Amino acid sequence: MVEGQVYPVSDEWKKRAKVDAEGYEQLHGRSIADPGSFWLEQARRLDWIKRPEIAGDWSFDEDDFHIQWFADGKLNVSANCIDRHLKTRGDATAIIWEPDDPNEQAKSFTYRDLHREVCRFANVLKREGVTKGDRVTIYMPMIPEAAFALLACARIGAIHSVVFAGFSPEAIAGRITDCDSAFLITADEGRRAGRTVPLKANVDKAAAQARALKKVIVVRATGGDVAMTEGRDIWYDEAVRDVADDCPAEPMGAEDPLFILYTSGSTGKPKGVLHTSGGYLLWASFTHELAFDYRPGEIFWCAADIGWITGHSYIVYGPLANGATTLMYEGVPNWPDASRIWQVVDKHRVNTLYTAPTALRALMAEGDEPVKATSRASLRLLGTVGEPINPEAWRWYHHVVGEDRCPIIDTWWQTETGGHMIAPLPGAHALKPGCATKPMPGIDPQIVDADGNVLTGEAQGNLVIARSWPGQMRTVWNDQERFFQTYFATYPGKYFTSDGCRRDANGDYWITGRVDDVINVSGHRMGTAEIESALVLHESVAEAAVVGRPHDVKGQAIYAYVTLNSGVESSEELRDTLIKWVRSEIGPFAAPEAIQFAPALPKTRSGKIMRRILRKIAEGDTSSLGDTSTLADPAVVDHLIDNRIS
Ligand code: PRX
Repeated sequence: MVEGQVYPVSDEWKKRAKVDAEGYEQLHGRSIADPGSFWLEQARRLDWIKRPEIAGDWSFDEDDFHIQWFADGKLNVSANCIDRHLKTRGDATAIIWEPDDPNEQAKSFTYRDLHREVCRFANVLKREGVTKGDRVTIYMPMIPEAAFALLACARIGAIHSVVFAGFSPEAIAGRITDCDSAFLITADEGRRAGRTVPLKANVDKAAAQARALKKVIVVRATGGDVAMTEGRDIWYDEAVRDVADDCPAEPMGAEDPLFILYTSGSTGKPKGVLHTSGGYLLWASFTHELAFDYRPGEIFWCAADIGWITGHSYIVYGPLANGATTLMYEGVPNWPDASRIWQVVDKHRVNTLYTAPTALRALMAEGDEPVKATSRASLRLLGTVGEPINPEAWRWYHHVVGEDRCPIIDTWWQTETGGHMIAPLPGAHALKPGCATKPMPGIDPQIVDADGNVLTGEAQGNLVIARSWPGQMRTVWNDQERFFQTYFATYPGKYFTSDGCRRDANGDYWITGRVDDVINVSGHRMGTAEIESALVLHESVAEAAVVGRPHDVKGQAIYAYVTLNSGVESSEELRDTLIKWVRSEIGPFAAPEAIQFAPALPKTRSGKIMRRILRKIAEGDTSSLGDTSTLADPAVVDHLIDNRIS
């Protein structure tokens, strides 16, 4: 990593930014010294039905473990994202929607339009029997109705659980069952890069396994032919014809659940991360305004999918809470050609673009021409999220895309954190390629060693957060014990992020990547244990071990070692079968890039798979395998090295 390269805050940004270096120090200082009054003051950015008088009430200690924010407050999240803007900016654009196919018409919705659409959607949900506290699974393409559906749930107090449209029927069924969701919203088909995705057909397969499911609401997106099950499935366009244009917003306690979002961990099945209403919305709104220096009238484009936390917080909740214009894009950055993302920037005069390093690396590989063919004059700020950005991609983003005039906000955060945790503020912090720089106000990061000793000054170790913040997840759905054990047991009294981190001499934080068995493939977070479980479900597989190895574009690629049942012969055909198997068990993005058949895996005498060795072999770094003396059978390693897939 090239170090020492620093991009100071430009004079222009010093002048125009809401928060400068001194302002940041003050904000952060106050947030830590007097969090109670700091957060009650910040709470004023929301519209409360009952204003809270208590800010944080939490303890990370096992015998008194609890996390609450603004617990005596009452509000409605959808009213905060829509109704309160009607008076002042009812005719301002809330959502711009850009379709997959550039020859189709874009759409835009004012806040007044959004109010009507969300109310009507909410009325359909109510009529179908959805009530406060019910779980509603949302399996949608990137169409405006996806945003309407989230906000409609929030309006009536239903808890949404969005399942990314790339997940397989198996994965949908598991998530429906885990949160006992009787309702599901989907579309006939999705579209991406000119292809269709059979969403309704996937839901039908999932429904066969998910007995909790009672009603399926289907939005007509492509007009494709789909099967409808009488009594269970209804067309949204038919249901919405005769509902009222208004729907009162349900008063909700600040700690009432807003949504569940499943995410992968190092063990077991995906966890249902639960976020609640007041603290989450406050955090989404606060971080959106600060990190992106957002001002009314600007066009904000978060090029993520609504199926992930980035889409929840920075396509829907944060921007709309702030009265922003948020752009929603149905397609992918490089279709029909490598200029598309920049064409969309020009077409809608986007001011802030927020995307993932993996997308930038893919675009960078196409050269500078597709970028230079566009103007990008509207851009003033760039952002990245989801994985560490390599300095080369950072510099390309800065120099070629932003023509050296747009700061890059490298935001480190997680599904669990609700919003940005460590990120530069454009008017306050000098930028360093690959560095997330400084904690947001309210965030108290620490670096600890393996024994939990807090390291000071320049240091490298594991990243923990020493105090709660409003956007923190509140529990794992239905499994408070797992919540505590996963995040608070490793370093007592602290939230463990599972990320490694380094702090440099200026006190800037550099995220070095996960320290657990979670891998990040094209910005998709996956537990290696999940892929292993899928592989061993296949009748030919006795055992599997999955590791990540570096990949130029995807960040990491999936490398699987598979031991077959006795009597089963390895073959290319079986390799293909297993790759297809994983696609259907989890989703296309979880398909291994390489499967190496292995007669045995390297294990310790107590039977533990030595993943460190498997990672090194997959990376092709076999000269430094480290200590193999604890292996039960060292000969296994030679066989693995000889048969490595490059
Ligand atoms: O390893 C970190 C990486 O993504 C993980 C969180 O993944 P997920 O919950 O899917 O949320 C992604 C969107 C927030 C983290 O534990 N990560 C995220 N942002 C960065 C990052 N790693 C380095 N730099 C980042 N800016």
